[in-house]
Amino acid sequence: MSVVQPAITAVVTLLVAFAAAGVPLPRYEALLKQQSAPEDPSLGLYDDGDKVVRLTVDNFNATVLDQNRGALVEFYNTYCGHCRRFAPTYKTVAEHLLPWSEVLIVAAIDCAAEENNGVCRDYEVMGYPTLRYLGPGFQPGAKHYGQNLMTQDVTEIRELLAGMVAAENLTSSHNNSYWPNLHYLTENDSVTSLFEGLSRDRQYVAVVHEPENTTLGVEVALFMTQWPAVEVRRVIDPAVSAKFKIDPANLPLSLVDRKGEITAYAPEFANGESYAKKLQEVLGKMNVTPRPVRPHQKLGKPATKATGQNEIIQEVHRNKHFVYQADLEQAIRTILHNEVPKVSEISGEKLLALQRFLAVLQRYNPLSANGHQLVTKLKDYVVQFNDQLTGSQFEEELKRLESQLSPVYSSTHFVGCTGSSPRLRGFSCSLWTLFHFMTVQAASNDESQDPLEVLQAMHGYIKNFFGCTECSEHFQAMASRRKIWSVPNKEEAVLWLWAAHNEVNQRLAGDETEDPEFPKKQFPSPDSCSECYRAPGTKSENLEIEWNKDAVLGFLKNIHNPQFVSRYGLQREELLHPTPDKMRQKRQISSVFTDMDMRMGMLLYAFCIVMMVLAFKLFAFKGYRKKPYGHDLLGKV
Ligand SMILES: Cc1cc2nc3c(=O)[nH]c(=O)nc-3n(C[C@H](O)[C@H](O)[C@H](O)COP(=O)(O)OP(=O)(O)OC[C@H]3O[C@@H](n4cnc5c(N)ncnc54)[C@H](O)[C@@H]3O)c2cc1C
Ligand SMILES: *[C@@H]1O[C@H](CO)[C@@H](O)[C@H](O)[C@H]1NC(C)=O
Ligand SMILES: *[C@@H]1O[C@H](CO)[C@@H](O)[C@H](O)[C@H]1NC(C)=O
Ligand SMILES: *[C@@H]1O[C@H](CO)[C@@H](O)[C@H](O)[C@H]1NC(C)=O
Ligand SMILES: *[C@@H]1O[C@H](CO)[C@@H](O)[C@H](O)[C@H]1NC(C)=O
Ligand SMILES: *[C@@H]1O[C@H](CO)[C@@H](O)[C@H](O)[C@H]1NC(C)=O
Repeated sequence: MSVVQPAITAVVTLLVAFAAAGVPLPRYEALLKQQSAPEDPSLGLYDDGDKVVRLTVDNFNATVLDQNRGALVEFYNTYCGHCRRFAPTYKTVAEHLLPWSEVLIVAAIDCAAEENNGVCRDYEVMGYPTLRYLGPGFQPGAKHYGQNLMTQDVTEIRELLAGMVAAENLTSSHNNSYWPNLHYLTENDSVTSLFEGLSRDRQYVAVVHEPENTTLGVEVALFMTQWPAVEVRRVIDPAVSAKFKIDPANLPLSLVDRKGEITAYAPEFANGESYAKKLQEVLGKMNVTPRPVRPHQKLGKPATKATGQNEIIQEVHRNKHFVYQADLEQAIRTILHNEVPKVSEISGEKLLALQRFLAVLQRYNPLSANGHQLVTKLKDYVVQFNDQLTGSQFEEELKRLESQLSPVYSSTHFVGCTGSSPRLRGFSCSLWTLFHFMTVQAASNDESQDPLEVLQAMHGYIKNFFGCTECSEHFQAMASRRKIWSVPNKEEAVLWLWAAHNEVNQRLAGDETEDPEFPKKQFPSPDSCSECYRAPGTKSENLEIEWNKDAVLGFLKNIHNPQFVSRYGLQREELLHPTPDKMRQKRQISSVFTDMDMRMGMLLYAFCIVMMVLAFKLFAFKGYRKKPYGHDLLGKV
């Protein structure tokens, strides 16, 4: 018996440990290892195949400061839906303006990548996406961060840029031989004077009649920068045009050669591209060719696909309405590391909003013990300021505190907010999750009696810091329409946010930014909470759902209960308080078993049963003689 008893103990312990997560599970461990370093939260919206030059902190200055050409720069956040919707348009702009690239490049920087915080802060980007023109020789100076383009239309962008290029007063120090001569032809110009001072390469001068208040001639000149044989000149005065055989209404374009011969042409459409096409067609017939467009240097890092997403998505699909610790942490991390530090001046309403937000986060903080200290100290730091704080001061203090208190976070990636592509879901999803979590915590304890505490903090945050500008504007409009300031109690605050979120879900259902793996639905779905629906039969999409609000409230309180927040996919679960809910953990871990793990487990299980039967027989036989109460021993096991 003295041999058998430890054997049983060992086997049972092994079994329990295996079931309850103690035994390393090869696949799961591999998954965690892959993700042990914090991932770049954003992979950017542009790839190598696009003509958009990718800027980062490492190449920004070298690419756009003090160049002999200009740059159009888009400041965007990958997680901002409107930026994602705009990305195809911007790719078109870059493709379309590629022939201009010796004079102007089309570039973009992802402000959701933490490494770029400093650039986005220095350029005082107020909304996303922002388009800025930085001219040749550009140097950032006091309140000089380039010119905003307040449009997202391809044609308007082209016209505005042409106007900005034309307004440049280039000195010879810029030394850009491609820069077109944008002076209008005057009464003093003639067919013979046209070629004076031009290089021998210039065999032709194209004369473009530019209607008043347009940038047509500039555009033609820019589209022709790759054609060394042609100098493009613009003319606005009809009397001068006439000298070059131009009839503004019918033949607005002419080509002059060195012999003084002039031919006028009628382009198909009244735009720079069409004029350039006409010229290129004519020149092509005369065997005149362009220079090849110099390919952009491959700037920036290539976008890499994140790994391990599929396992996570499968897990999330199995547990549709779980709230994940990893997402709560990623939301906080992005807020502290990216969104707040990007704001150059935090003063007035912004400062108040930050103080309120940190105070609420301090109360309903889902982080580890170190994370609690971090938020407390950060809040104490921020409340000292009553005038203004800068984003870089905040960032410095955050990094100082984190290095003191490290490790703070138990996860480095999203789980419930993982998208089927790295450009989907992510931060905005986790932000909703965090605020739902906080409204529920507020309603579930007595820390404060203020029903608006969390909603007000959220409203202030969204208005002043959320880097999805369109979301922020929609949210503010919705908040006043849904009377956020009249919410009577903390439970109604939970329901207010739930209903508001459902309104957003409804508006975005079928939107191009929707993740096909996670279609926008009214939440919770009938599968997750049938009792939340009063009339379960109503399937029609147009019918307003009749909610059972009490059931919804119960459901929301339940899924956001810290005891039930899932810890799936955490790297450093040991940082958190242990949950007593072992069974749930067991279920989650078993779900990442591979077939191999399962077979091993079954084998072990069978082996254990055989051992136990053997042991019990042996033991029971002996025990029967020595002690009448066999079950005593079970207590010792
Ligand atoms: C304040 C705010 C405003 C936004 N406005 C816009 C906008 O105007 N335009 C735009 O394109 N994008 C907007 N977004 C982003 C958009 O709402 C989604 O966050 C984004 O499209 C990612 O969607 P998702 O599928 O991950 O689910 P999300 O809508 O982000 O939801 C996250 C998770 O919350 C749970 N959930 C869903 N609905 C509810 C609910 N009603 N109550 C409780 N939990 C719920 C689900 O588990 C879901 O997976 C906004 C985001 C925020 C935070
Ligand atoms: C880029 O230039 C700006 C302004 O000259 C400067 O403040 C900043 O430090 C530079 N950044 C890098 C990474 O060199
Ligand atoms: C253009 O620059 C030159 C030299 O810097 C200056 O003398 C001239 O006034 C400028 N012209 C305009 C229109 O700004
Ligand atoms: C301008 O370009 C020419 C030829 O590329 C070069 O020799 C000259 O040094 C350049 N001047 C300046 C000021 O950069
Ligand atoms: C044309 O030349 C005359 C004489 O040189 C001069 O007075 C006039 O200003 C010039 N016109 C323009 C538009 O340059
Ligand atoms: C051009 O713009 C000016 C100033 O805005 C305006 O007065 C003029 O009428 C415009 N001309 C045409 C042809 O639109």
